[in-house]
Amino acid sequence: MSTPIAISFAETDLDAIDAATGRVAVFVGEDGKLDPSARRVNKLIRGALSRFVESPAFEKMSPGDVTSLAYPAQLDVEAVDVVRLEKRPGADVARKAGAALAKLMKGGDVLLLAGSNAGAADIAFGFALRAYTFDAHKSAEPTVPGKVRVMATKPEEVAAAAGPMAALAEGVFFTRDLVNEPANILTTDDFAARLAAMQELGLEVEILEEEDLRKLGMRTLLAVGQGSESPSKVVVMRWNGGEKDAAPLALVGKGVVFDTGGISIKPAAGMEEMTMDMGGAAVVSGVMRALALRKAKANVVGLVGLVENMPDGKAQRPGDIVKTMKGDTVEVINTDAEGRLVLADVLWYAQERFAPAAMIDLATLTGAIIIGLGNYNSGVFSNDDDLCNAFLAAAAKEGEGAWRMPLGDAYDRLLKSQLADMKNVGGRAGGSITAAQFLQRFVKDDCPWIHLDIAGVARVSEETALAPKGATGWGVLTLDRLIADRFEA
Ligand code: BES
Ligand code: MN
Ligand code: ZN
Repeated sequence: MSTPIAISFAETDLDAIDAATGRVAVFVGEDGKLDPSARRVNKLIRGALSRFVESPAFEKMSPGDVTSLAYPAQLDVEAVDVVRLEKRPGADVARKAGAALAKLMKGGDVLLLAGSNAGAADIAFGFALRAYTFDAHKSAEPTVPGKVRVMATKPEEVAAAAGPMAALAEGVFFTRDLVNEPANILTTDDFAARLAAMQELGLEVEILEEEDLRKLGMRTLLAVGQGSESPSKVVVMRWNGGEKDAAPLALVGKGVVFDTGGISIKPAAGMEEMTMDMGGAAVVSGVMRALALRKAKANVVGLVGLVENMPDGKAQRPGDIVKTMKGDTVEVINTDAEGRLVLADVLWYAQERFAPAAMIDLATLTGAIIIGLGNYNSGVFSNDDDLCNAFLAAAAKEGEGAWRMPLGDAYDRLLKSQLADMKNVGGRAGGSITAAQFLQRFVKDDCPWIHLDIAGVARVSEETALAPKGATGWGVLTLDRLIADRFEA
Protein backbone atom coordinates (compact mmCIF):
# COMPACT_ATOMS: atom_id res chain seq x y z
CA MET A 1 0.00 0.00 0.00
CA SER A 2 1.20 3.52 -0.71
CA THR A 3 1.97 5.24 2.56
CA PRO A 4 1.87 9.01 2.98
CA ILE A 5 5.27 10.69 2.96
CA ALA A 6 6.63 11.21 6.48
CA ILE A 7 6.58 14.85 7.56
CA SER A 8 8.16 15.94 10.84
CA PHE A 9 7.43 19.08 12.83
CA ALA A 10 10.01 21.02 14.84
CA GLU A 11 10.37 24.38 16.49
CA THR A 12 11.85 27.10 14.30
CA ASP A 13 15.63 26.95 14.69
CA LEU A 14 17.26 29.82 12.82
CA ASP A 15 20.76 28.35 12.94
CA ALA A 16 19.55 25.07 11.46
CA ILE A 17 18.32 26.94 8.38
CA ASP A 18 21.92 27.68 7.37
CA ALA A 19 22.57 23.94 6.99
CA ALA A 20 19.45 23.17 4.92
CA THR A 21 19.80 21.00 1.81
CA GLY A 22 17.34 20.26 -1.00
CA ARG A 23 14.73 23.01 -1.07
CA VAL A 24 13.59 25.65 1.40
CA ALA A 25 10.13 27.19 1.33
CA VAL A 26 9.18 30.52 2.89
CA PHE A 27 5.65 31.89 3.28
CA VAL A 28 4.95 35.58 2.71
CA GLY A 29 1.58 37.32 3.15
CA GLU A 30 0.24 40.08 0.90
CA ASP A 31 1.78 42.70 3.23
CA GLY A 32 5.18 41.42 2.10
CA LYS A 33 6.46 41.21 5.69
CA LEU A 34 9.15 38.62 6.33
CA ASP A 35 8.93 36.57 9.54
CA PRO A 36 12.14 35.73 11.45
CA SER A 37 12.85 32.52 9.49
CA ALA A 38 12.25 34.27 6.15
CA ARG A 39 14.53 37.09 7.29
CA ARG A 40 17.23 34.54 8.05
CA VAL A 41 16.86 33.06 4.55
CA ASN A 42 16.88 36.58 3.10
CA LYS A 43 20.15 37.36 4.82
CA LEU A 44 21.74 34.12 3.59
CA ILE A 45 20.75 34.85 0.01
CA ARG A 46 21.94 38.45 0.25
CA GLY A 47 18.57 40.16 0.14
CA ALA A 48 17.25 38.30 -2.93
CA LEU A 49 14.04 37.45 -1.07
CA SER A 50 13.19 41.01 -0.07
CA ARG A 51 14.07 42.24 -3.55
CA PHE A 52 11.68 39.68 -5.02
CA VAL A 53 8.90 40.52 -2.55
CA GLU A 54 9.17 44.21 -3.49
CA SER A 55 9.06 43.44 -7.21
CA PRO A 56 5.95 43.43 -9.45
CA ALA A 57 6.39 39.64 -9.84
CA PHE A 58 5.38 39.14 -6.18
CA GLU A 59 2.48 41.56 -6.60
CA LYS A 60 1.13 39.40 -9.44
CA MET A 61 1.08 36.18 -7.37
CA SER A 62 -2.24 34.86 -6.07
CA PRO A 63 -2.66 33.26 -2.64
CA GLY A 64 -1.12 29.79 -2.73
CA ASP A 65 1.14 30.51 -5.73
CA VAL A 66 4.82 29.56 -5.58
CA THR A 67 7.83 31.21 -7.25
CA SER A 68 11.24 29.55 -7.09
CA LEU A 69 14.39 31.60 -6.59
CA ALA A 70 17.21 29.52 -8.10
CA TYR A 71 20.92 29.47 -7.25
CA PRO A 72 20.61 31.03 -3.80
CA ALA A 73 23.92 32.40 -2.51
CA GLN A 74 25.36 30.94 0.75
CA LEU A 75 22.63 28.33 1.01
CA ASP A 76 23.45 24.85 -0.21
CA VAL A 77 19.97 24.28 -1.65
CA GLU A 78 18.50 23.85 -5.15
CA ALA A 79 16.06 26.70 -4.68
CA VAL A 80 14.20 28.90 -2.26
CA ASP A 81 10.49 28.55 -2.96
CA VAL A 82 8.51 31.67 -2.12
CA VAL A 83 4.87 30.93 -1.32
CA ARG A 84 2.42 33.81 -1.23
CA LEU A 85 0.08 32.98 1.61
CA GLU A 86 -1.81 35.08 4.10
CA LYS A 87 -1.30 34.37 7.84
CA ARG A 88 -4.71 32.66 8.18
CA PRO A 89 -5.28 30.94 4.84
CA GLY A 90 -8.38 28.86 4.11
CA ALA A 91 -7.70 25.12 4.31
CA ASP A 92 -8.04 24.68 0.54
CA VAL A 93 -5.55 27.46 -0.26
CA ALA A 94 -3.03 26.18 2.30
CA ARG A 95 -3.33 22.65 0.92
CA LYS A 96 -2.87 23.83 -2.65
CA ALA A 97 0.27 25.72 -1.60
CA GLY A 98 1.63 22.58 0.06
CA ALA A 99 0.75 20.54 -3.03
CA ALA A 100 2.55 23.01 -5.31
CA LEU A 101 5.68 22.56 -3.18
CA ALA A 102 5.38 18.76 -3.35
CA LYS A 103 5.31 18.99 -7.13
CA LEU A 104 8.64 20.85 -7.08
CA MET A 105 10.33 18.24 -4.88
CA LYS A 106 12.86 16.26 -6.90
CA GLY A 107 13.99 13.65 -4.39
CA GLY A 108 16.02 15.88 -2.05
CA ASP A 109 15.01 17.16 1.39
CA VAL A 110 12.47 19.92 1.87
CA LEU A 111 12.32 22.43 4.70
CA LEU A 112 9.06 24.33 5.13
CA LEU A 113 9.49 27.48 7.22
CA ALA A 114 5.89 27.92 8.36
CA GLY A 115 6.67 30.24 11.30
CA SER A 116 3.40 31.22 12.99
CA ASN A 117 1.26 30.58 9.90
CA ALA A 118 -2.11 29.17 10.99
CA GLY A 119 -2.28 26.93 7.92
CA ALA A 120 0.90 24.94 8.65
CA ALA A 121 -0.91 21.61 9.16
CA ASP A 122 -2.91 22.03 5.97
CA ILE A 123 0.25 22.96 4.06
CA ALA A 124 1.76 19.66 5.21
CA PHE A 125 -1.47 17.82 4.34
CA GLY A 126 -1.54 19.22 0.81
CA PHE A 127 2.12 18.32 0.44
CA ALA A 128 1.41 14.71 1.47
CA LEU A 129 -1.61 14.36 -0.83
CA ARG A 130 0.28 15.64 -3.88
CA ALA A 131 3.40 13.56 -3.16
CA TYR A 132 1.40 10.34 -3.74
CA THR A 133 2.75 7.94 -6.35
CA PHE A 134 1.58 4.52 -7.48
CA ASP A 135 4.64 2.50 -8.43
CA ALA A 136 3.45 -0.94 -7.33
CA HIS A 137 3.94 -2.42 -10.80
CA LYS A 138 7.16 -0.69 -11.88
CA SER A 139 10.19 -2.96 -11.79
CA ALA A 140 12.64 -0.15 -11.05
CA GLU A 141 13.47 0.36 -7.37
CA PRO A 142 11.27 3.17 -6.10
CA THR A 143 13.21 6.35 -5.40
CA VAL A 144 13.41 7.04 -1.69
CA PRO A 145 11.81 10.43 -1.04
CA GLY A 146 13.81 13.05 0.85
CA LYS A 147 12.99 14.23 4.35
CA VAL A 148 10.23 16.79 4.71
CA ARG A 149 10.47 19.00 7.79
CA VAL A 150 8.16 21.76 8.92
CA MET A 151 9.57 24.42 11.24
CA ALA A 152 6.93 26.35 13.15
CA THR A 153 6.74 28.56 16.22
CA LYS A 154 4.29 26.15 17.90
CA PRO A 155 5.18 22.74 16.46
CA GLU A 156 3.09 20.75 19.00
CA GLU A 157 -0.05 22.59 17.90
CA VAL A 158 0.73 21.97 14.26
CA ALA A 159 1.50 18.29 14.88
CA ALA A 160 -1.78 17.90 16.82
CA ALA A 161 -3.78 19.39 13.95
CA ALA A 162 -1.86 17.24 11.46
CA GLY A 163 -2.76 13.97 13.28
CA PRO A 164 -6.33 13.53 11.96
CA MET A 165 -5.14 14.79 8.57
CA ALA A 166 -2.61 11.95 8.42
CA ALA A 167 -5.53 9.55 8.99
CA LEU A 168 -7.38 11.20 6.13
CA ALA A 169 -4.34 11.02 3.85
CA GLU A 170 -4.16 7.28 4.51
CA GLY A 171 -7.84 6.97 3.64
CA VAL A 172 -7.33 8.91 0.40
CA PHE A 173 -4.32 6.78 -0.51
CA PHE A 174 -6.24 3.58 0.18
CA THR A 175 -8.93 4.78 -2.24
CA ARG A 176 -6.40 5.84 -4.88
CA ASP A 177 -4.50 2.55 -4.69
CA LEU A 178 -7.71 0.56 -5.18
CA VAL A 179 -8.72 2.68 -8.18
CA ASN A 180 -5.25 2.49 -9.74
CA GLU A 181 -4.92 -1.30 -9.42
CA PRO A 182 -5.64 -3.31 -12.58
CA ALA A 183 -8.44 -5.88 -12.61
CA ASN A 184 -6.18 -8.96 -12.78
CA ILE A 185 -4.70 -7.93 -9.42
CA LEU A 186 -7.75 -6.35 -7.78
CA THR A 187 -10.20 -9.21 -8.21
CA THR A 188 -13.29 -9.42 -6.04
CA ASP A 189 -11.38 -11.82 -3.74
CA ASP A 190 -8.40 -9.48 -3.49
CA PHE A 191 -10.59 -6.45 -2.84
CA ALA A 192 -12.46 -8.26 -0.07
CA ALA A 193 -9.17 -9.45 1.48
CA ARG A 194 -7.86 -5.86 1.59
CA LEU A 195 -11.04 -4.83 3.40
CA ALA A 196 -10.88 -7.77 5.81
CA ALA A 197 -7.35 -6.65 6.73
CA MET A 198 -8.87 -3.42 8.09
CA GLN A 199 -10.20 -5.39 11.07
CA GLU A 200 -6.78 -4.64 12.59
CA LEU A 201 -7.85 -1.01 12.77
CA GLY A 202 -10.93 -1.85 14.83
CA LEU A 203 -13.44 -2.03 11.98
CA GLU A 204 -15.93 -4.90 11.96
CA VAL A 205 -15.70 -6.47 8.52
CA GLU A 206 -18.13 -9.09 7.26
CA ILE A 207 -17.93 -10.73 3.83
CA LEU A 208 -21.14 -12.05 2.29
CA GLU A 209 -20.38 -14.76 -0.30
CA GLU A 210 -22.55 -15.80 -3.25
CA GLU A 211 -24.36 -18.40 -1.17
CA ASP A 212 -25.30 -15.74 1.40
CA LEU A 213 -26.37 -13.33 -1.34
CA ARG A 214 -28.56 -16.00 -2.90
CA LYS A 215 -30.27 -16.59 0.43
CA LEU A 216 -30.83 -12.86 0.83
CA GLY A 217 -32.34 -12.69 -2.66
CA MET A 218 -29.79 -10.30 -4.20
CA ARG A 219 -30.60 -11.62 -7.64
CA THR A 220 -29.85 -8.52 -9.73
CA LEU A 221 -26.39 -8.18 -8.12
CA LEU A 222 -25.67 -11.87 -8.72
CA ALA A 223 -26.95 -11.62 -12.31
CA VAL A 224 -24.28 -9.01 -13.10
CA GLY A 225 -21.49 -11.22 -11.80
CA GLN A 226 -22.69 -14.54 -13.22
CA GLY A 227 -20.55 -14.28 -16.36
CA SER A 228 -17.32 -13.93 -14.39
CA GLU A 229 -14.97 -16.49 -12.87
CA SER A 230 -14.58 -14.16 -9.89
CA PRO A 231 -17.20 -14.67 -7.17
CA SER A 232 -19.57 -11.80 -6.41
CA LYS A 233 -19.45 -10.48 -2.85
CA VAL A 234 -20.90 -7.85 -0.58
CA VAL A 235 -18.58 -6.55 2.11
CA VAL A 236 -20.01 -4.82 5.18
CA MET A 237 -17.67 -2.60 7.21
CA ARG A 238 -18.84 -1.13 10.49
CA TRP A 239 -17.32 1.64 12.56
CA ASN A 240 -19.18 2.07 15.83
CA GLY A 241 -17.57 5.13 17.39
CA GLY A 242 -20.85 6.88 18.19
CA GLU A 243 -23.59 6.39 20.75
CA LYS A 244 -24.55 2.79 21.31
CA ASP A 245 -27.94 2.58 19.64
CA ALA A 246 -27.75 5.59 17.33
CA ALA A 247 -28.81 4.75 13.77
CA PRO A 248 -25.75 4.74 11.50
CA LEU A 249 -24.96 6.64 8.35
CA ALA A 250 -24.82 4.11 5.53
CA LEU A 251 -22.27 4.50 2.72
CA VAL A 252 -22.87 2.27 -0.29
CA GLY A 253 -20.38 1.78 -3.13
CA LYS A 254 -20.45 0.32 -6.64
CA GLY A 255 -17.56 -2.11 -6.87
CA VAL A 256 -17.44 -3.42 -10.44
CA VAL A 257 -13.82 -4.56 -10.54
CA PHE A 258 -14.00 -4.60 -14.34
CA ASP A 259 -16.83 -3.56 -16.65
CA THR A 260 -16.62 -5.06 -20.13
CA GLY A 261 -20.28 -4.18 -20.60
CA GLY A 262 -21.15 -7.89 -20.52
CA ILE A 263 -23.01 -9.25 -23.57
CA SER A 264 -23.82 -5.60 -24.50
CA ILE A 265 -20.05 -5.37 -24.82
CA LYS A 266 -18.20 -2.05 -24.87
CA PRO A 267 -16.00 -0.97 -27.81
CA ALA A 268 -12.31 -1.89 -27.49
CA ALA A 269 -10.98 1.67 -27.50
CA GLY A 270 -10.67 2.88 -23.93
CA MET A 271 -12.08 -0.27 -22.36
CA GLU A 272 -8.98 -0.48 -20.14
CA GLU A 273 -10.37 2.49 -18.24
CA MET A 274 -13.04 0.23 -16.78
CA THR A 275 -10.54 -0.95 -14.16
CA MET A 276 -11.82 2.08 -12.24
CA ASP A 277 -15.44 0.97 -12.17
CA MET A 278 -15.04 0.07 -8.51
CA GLY A 279 -14.35 3.74 -7.68
CA GLY A 280 -17.46 4.13 -5.52
CA ALA A 281 -16.54 1.10 -3.42
CA ALA A 282 -13.00 2.48 -3.13
CA VAL A 283 -14.22 5.80 -1.71
CA VAL A 284 -16.46 4.02 0.80
CA SER A 285 -13.46 1.89 1.84
CA GLY A 286 -11.14 4.89 2.13
CA VAL A 287 -13.62 6.79 4.30
CA MET A 288 -14.06 3.78 6.60
CA ARG A 289 -10.29 3.52 6.93
CA ALA A 290 -9.94 7.21 7.78
CA LEU A 291 -12.77 7.02 10.35
CA ALA A 292 -11.09 4.08 12.08
CA LEU A 293 -7.65 5.70 12.03
CA ARG A 294 -8.91 8.93 13.54
CA LYS A 295 -11.31 7.11 15.88
CA ALA A 296 -14.33 9.10 14.75
CA LYS A 297 -17.20 9.47 17.21
CA ALA A 298 -19.86 8.32 14.77
CA ASN A 299 -21.65 5.16 13.73
CA VAL A 300 -21.03 4.51 10.05
CA VAL A 301 -21.61 1.37 8.03
CA GLY A 302 -19.96 0.94 4.63
CA LEU A 303 -21.34 -1.59 2.17
CA VAL A 304 -19.74 -2.44 -1.16
CA GLY A 305 -21.05 -4.68 -3.93
CA LEU A 306 -18.06 -6.40 -5.56
CA VAL A 307 -18.69 -8.01 -8.95
CA GLU A 308 -17.10 -8.35 -12.38
CA ASN A 309 -19.18 -7.71 -15.50
CA MET A 310 -18.00 -10.22 -18.14
CA PRO A 311 -19.52 -11.78 -21.28
CA ASP A 312 -19.64 -15.57 -21.09
CA GLY A 313 -21.87 -18.58 -21.65
CA LYS A 314 -23.32 -18.01 -18.22
CA ALA A 315 -23.59 -14.22 -18.50
CA GLN A 316 -26.97 -12.52 -18.31
CA ARG A 317 -28.45 -11.52 -21.68
CA PRO A 318 -30.26 -8.45 -22.88
CA GLY A 319 -33.95 -9.18 -22.41
CA ASP A 320 -33.51 -11.20 -19.22
CA ILE A 321 -36.00 -10.40 -16.47
CA VAL A 322 -34.58 -10.53 -12.95
CA LYS A 323 -36.23 -9.95 -9.58
CA THR A 324 -34.49 -7.62 -7.12
CA MET A 325 -34.13 -8.27 -3.40
CA LYS A 326 -36.90 -5.72 -2.89
CA GLY A 327 -39.17 -7.88 -5.05
CA ASP A 328 -39.55 -5.72 -8.17
CA THR A 329 -38.77 -7.21 -11.56
CA VAL A 330 -36.27 -5.61 -13.95
CA GLU A 331 -36.04 -6.12 -17.70
CA VAL A 332 -32.33 -5.97 -18.51
CA ILE A 333 -32.32 -4.07 -21.80
CA ASN A 334 -28.57 -3.38 -21.67
CA THR A 335 -26.14 -5.50 -19.64
CA ASP A 336 -23.76 -2.51 -19.60
CA ALA A 337 -26.14 -0.64 -17.28
CA GLU A 338 -24.96 -2.99 -14.54
CA GLY A 339 -24.03 -0.62 -11.72
CA ARG A 340 -27.65 0.18 -10.92
CA LEU A 341 -28.46 -3.55 -10.77
CA VAL A 342 -25.71 -4.04 -8.19
CA LEU A 343 -26.68 -0.99 -6.16
CA ALA A 344 -30.43 -1.76 -6.19
CA ASP A 345 -29.84 -4.82 -4.03
CA VAL A 346 -27.14 -3.33 -1.79
CA LEU A 347 -29.20 -0.16 -1.13
CA TRP A 348 -32.20 -2.26 -0.21
CA TYR A 349 -30.16 -4.55 2.02
CA ALA A 350 -28.55 -1.57 3.78
CA GLN A 351 -31.95 -0.17 4.72
CA GLU A 352 -33.51 -3.50 5.70
CA ARG A 353 -30.63 -4.45 7.96
CA PHE A 354 -29.43 -1.14 9.41
CA ALA A 355 -32.37 1.31 9.18
CA PRO A 356 -29.80 4.05 8.59
CA ALA A 357 -30.27 7.70 9.63
CA ALA A 358 -29.15 8.61 6.11
CA MET A 359 -27.68 6.85 3.12
CA ILE A 360 -25.12 8.01 0.57
CA ASP A 361 -24.14 5.93 -2.44
CA LEU A 362 -21.15 6.49 -4.72
CA ALA A 363 -20.81 4.99 -8.18
CA THR A 364 -18.97 5.43 -11.47
CA LEU A 365 -22.46 5.03 -12.86
CA THR A 366 -22.80 6.78 -16.22
CA GLY A 367 -20.75 8.12 -19.09
CA ALA A 368 -23.49 10.72 -19.43
CA ILE A 369 -22.38 12.51 -16.26
CA ILE A 370 -18.98 13.09 -17.91
CA ILE A 371 -20.75 14.60 -20.95
CA GLY A 372 -22.73 16.86 -18.60
CA LEU A 373 -20.16 17.91 -16.00
CA GLY A 374 -16.77 16.93 -17.40
CA ASN A 375 -14.05 15.84 -15.00
CA TYR A 376 -14.48 18.67 -12.51
CA ASN A 377 -17.73 17.92 -10.69
CA SER A 378 -19.46 14.85 -9.38
CA GLY A 379 -23.19 14.64 -10.06
CA VAL A 380 -25.19 14.95 -6.84
CA PHE A 381 -28.76 13.61 -6.64
CA SER A 382 -30.83 13.74 -3.48
CA ASN A 383 -34.31 13.37 -2.00
CA ASP A 384 -33.44 15.62 0.97
CA ASP A 385 -32.52 19.32 0.58
CA ASP A 386 -31.10 19.65 4.07
CA LEU A 387 -28.69 16.71 3.78
CA CYS A 388 -27.82 17.68 0.22
CA ASN A 389 -26.99 21.27 1.17
CA ALA A 390 -24.79 20.05 4.02
CA PHE A 391 -23.00 17.79 1.56
CA LEU A 392 -22.50 20.59 -0.98
CA ALA A 393 -21.16 22.89 1.76
CA ALA A 394 -18.69 20.23 2.88
CA ALA A 395 -17.56 19.68 -0.72
CA ALA A 396 -17.03 23.41 -1.22
CA LYS A 397 -14.92 23.64 1.94
CA GLU A 398 -12.80 20.69 0.82
CA GLY A 399 -12.42 21.99 -2.73
CA GLU A 400 -14.01 18.87 -4.26
CA GLY A 401 -16.33 19.71 -7.19
CA ALA A 402 -19.98 18.70 -6.72
CA TRP A 403 -23.06 19.83 -8.65
CA ARG A 404 -26.67 19.03 -7.85
CA MET A 405 -28.79 17.44 -10.58
CA PRO A 406 -32.58 17.07 -10.70
CA LEU A 407 -34.83 14.11 -10.01
CA GLY A 408 -38.51 13.86 -10.95
CA ASP A 409 -41.43 11.76 -12.12
CA ALA A 410 -40.96 12.72 -15.77
CA TYR A 411 -37.57 11.00 -15.70
CA ASP A 412 -38.82 8.08 -13.65
CA ARG A 413 -41.48 7.31 -16.27
CA LEU A 414 -38.75 6.67 -18.84
CA LEU A 415 -37.98 3.42 -16.99
CA LYS A 416 -41.37 1.89 -17.82
CA SER A 417 -41.13 -1.64 -19.23
CA GLN A 418 -43.58 -3.63 -21.39
CA LEU A 419 -42.82 -6.90 -19.66
CA ALA A 420 -41.53 -6.14 -16.17
CA ASP A 421 -41.89 -3.56 -13.39
CA MET A 422 -39.10 -1.49 -14.91
CA LYS A 423 -36.28 -1.65 -17.42
CA ASN A 424 -32.69 -0.90 -16.53
CA VAL A 425 -32.14 1.93 -19.02
CA GLY A 426 -34.16 5.05 -19.82
CA GLY A 427 -32.64 6.08 -23.13
CA ARG A 428 -29.79 8.45 -24.00
CA ALA A 429 -31.47 11.70 -22.96
CA GLY A 430 -30.83 12.50 -19.31
CA GLY A 431 -28.95 9.23 -18.90
CA SER A 432 -27.44 10.10 -15.51
CA ILE A 433 -30.81 11.20 -14.18
CA THR A 434 -32.71 8.09 -15.27
CA ALA A 435 -29.91 6.04 -13.68
CA ALA A 436 -30.45 7.97 -10.44
CA GLN A 437 -34.22 7.45 -10.75
CA PHE A 438 -33.61 3.73 -11.03
CA LEU A 439 -31.66 3.84 -7.76
CA GLN A 440 -34.31 5.94 -6.03
CA ARG A 441 -36.81 3.15 -6.60
CA PHE A 442 -34.79 1.22 -4.01
CA VAL A 443 -34.64 4.04 -1.45
CA LYS A 444 -37.42 4.25 1.15
CA ASP A 445 -39.27 7.59 1.18
CA ASP A 446 -38.28 8.38 4.76
CA CYS A 447 -34.57 7.71 4.24
CA PRO A 448 -32.55 10.87 3.49
CA TRP A 449 -30.38 9.85 0.55
CA ILE A 450 -27.68 11.17 -1.75
CA HIS A 451 -26.44 9.50 -4.90
CA LEU A 452 -23.03 10.61 -6.19
CA ASP A 453 -22.20 9.79 -9.81
CA ILE A 454 -18.40 9.96 -9.71
CA ALA A 455 -17.65 8.58 -13.21
CA GLY A 456 -15.94 11.86 -14.20
CA VAL A 457 -13.94 12.51 -11.05
CA ALA A 458 -12.74 9.17 -9.66
CA ARG A 459 -9.85 9.05 -12.10
CA VAL A 460 -8.61 11.81 -14.37
CA SER A 461 -6.06 12.02 -17.18
CA GLU A 462 -4.60 15.36 -16.06
CA GLU A 463 -3.13 16.10 -12.65
CA THR A 464 -5.35 18.01 -10.23
CA ALA A 465 -4.35 20.47 -7.49
CA LEU A 466 -3.97 17.72 -4.91
CA ALA A 467 -3.30 14.59 -6.96
CA PRO A 468 -1.07 13.41 -9.78
CA LYS A 469 -2.90 12.11 -12.83
CA GLY A 470 -4.81 8.88 -12.23
CA ALA A 471 -6.97 8.11 -9.21
CA THR A 472 -7.99 11.22 -7.25
CA GLY A 473 -9.66 9.86 -4.13
CA TRP A 474 -12.46 12.37 -4.79
CA GLY A 475 -15.03 12.28 -2.01
CA VAL A 476 -13.02 10.98 0.93
CA LEU A 477 -12.34 14.46 2.30
CA THR A 478 -15.89 15.70 1.74
CA LEU A 479 -17.56 12.66 3.31
CA ASP A 480 -15.21 12.77 6.28
CA ARG A 481 -16.05 16.43 6.82
CA LEU A 482 -19.79 15.79 6.44
CA ILE A 483 -19.51 13.05 9.06
CA ALA A 484 -17.51 15.34 11.37
CA ASP A 485 -19.97 18.22 10.93
CA ARG A 486 -23.24 16.30 11.07
CA PHE A 487 -22.87 12.83 12.51
CA GLU A 488 -20.25 13.19 15.24
CA ALA A 489 -21.17 13.97 18.83
N1 BES B 1 -19.17 2.00 -15.75
C1 BES B 1 -19.97 2.60 -16.75
C2 BES B 1 -20.00 4.13 -16.68
C3 BES B 1 -18.69 4.83 -16.91
C4 BES B 1 -18.39 5.33 -18.17
C5 BES B 1 -17.80 5.03 -15.89
C6 BES B 1 -17.21 5.99 -18.40
C7 BES B 1 -16.60 5.70 -16.12
C8 BES B 1 -16.31 6.18 -17.37
C9 BES B 1 -21.40 2.10 -16.63
O1 BES B 1 -21.55 0.81 -16.14
C10 BES B 1 -21.98 2.09 -18.00
O2 BES B 1 -21.51 1.34 -18.80
N2 BES B 1 -22.97 2.93 -18.23
C11 BES B 1 -23.59 3.02 -19.50
C12 BES B 1 -25.08 3.09 -19.28
C13 BES B 1 -25.89 2.92 -20.53
C14 BES B 1 -25.73 1.51 -21.06
C15 BES B 1 -27.32 3.22 -20.21
C16 BES B 1 -23.07 4.29 -20.18
O3 BES B 1 -22.81 5.27 -19.49
O4 BES B 1 -22.88 4.26 -21.38
MN1 MN C 1 -21.41 -0.65 -17.66
ZN1 ZN D 1 -20.05 0.12 -14.90
